[in-house]
Amino acid sequence: MALFNILKKEDGTPQQRPVPQHIAVIMDGNGRWAKKRGLPRTAGHKVGAETFRNIATYCKDIGVKYFTVYAFSTENWKRPAEEVDTLMNLFRRYLKEAIETMAERGVSVRVIGDLSVLAEDIRELIADCDRESAKMEDPAVATLCINYGGRDEIKNAVRAIAQQVQSGALQPEDITEDTISRHLYTADMPDPDLIIRPSGEIRTSNFLLWQSAYAEYYFTDVLWPDFKPEHLEAAIEDFNRRQRRFGGV
Ligand code: FPP
Repeated sequence: MALFNILKKEDGTPQQRPVPQHIAVIMDGNGRWAKKRGLPRTAGHKVGAETFRNIATYCKDIGVKYFTVYAFSTENWKRPAEEVDTLMNLFRRYLKEAIETMAERGVSVRVIGDLSVLAEDIRELIADCDRESAKMEDPAVATLCINYGGRDEIKNAVRAIAQQVQSGALQPEDITEDTISRHLYTADMPDPDLIIRPSGEIRTSNFLLWQSAYAEYYFTDVLWPDFKPEHLEAAIEDFNRRQRRFGGV
């Protein structure tokens, strides 16, 4: 958790408050947003991508170090081809933009998930992003989860650990919770403090299953394309009122 100064809106005096170190979002409600306006679902995703840009920038500005979003799940391939293509094109466009601008913005962009099945040009863009990120010193980190599934991630970790046991490099009794954490896609980042799900759905949908063990959840009816910094502020305010005990008293 980090401390930062922000100007109070009413009287302009600085106020210090804590912000979560890591905020994660299930960007839900794009389809419903579009339907309400008589638009194709893809229009909702396009506005949703803009919302992601705005909220990622806002997170960086207020001192949130890690911002992680569920952009495409391992189950989303079942959607119509046109919708999948639109999402992949949005990722392409965003990654190209990120490669150009991340140094200036101070936000490094990374992608996690099973990337092996993504189109080759997208995987190359991700590799370019990684190369640019590696040049940055202590940036804020925006992470897109693409072809991501929490169970799939844990299964892959178990497989990698089992291989080490099979080769004799690791003894079963030496496997700790930390061993598992270190084999997840998120090995080098802290667990999320706050997970936000907009659009009125109240479920976790296979997102960051292991990492969310002690996260605070925040649900709101606002649809993701309508989500604004003021909604993030409401979530942070709610988070700051909660007492996190991590199983203690
Ligand atoms: C869930 O809403 C949303 C998705 C499956 C895709 C989320 C992706 C984006 C917002 C675009 C991201 C792009 C970048 C560049 C980060 P839904 O479509 O299931 O909504 P519904 O439940 O209302 O149908």
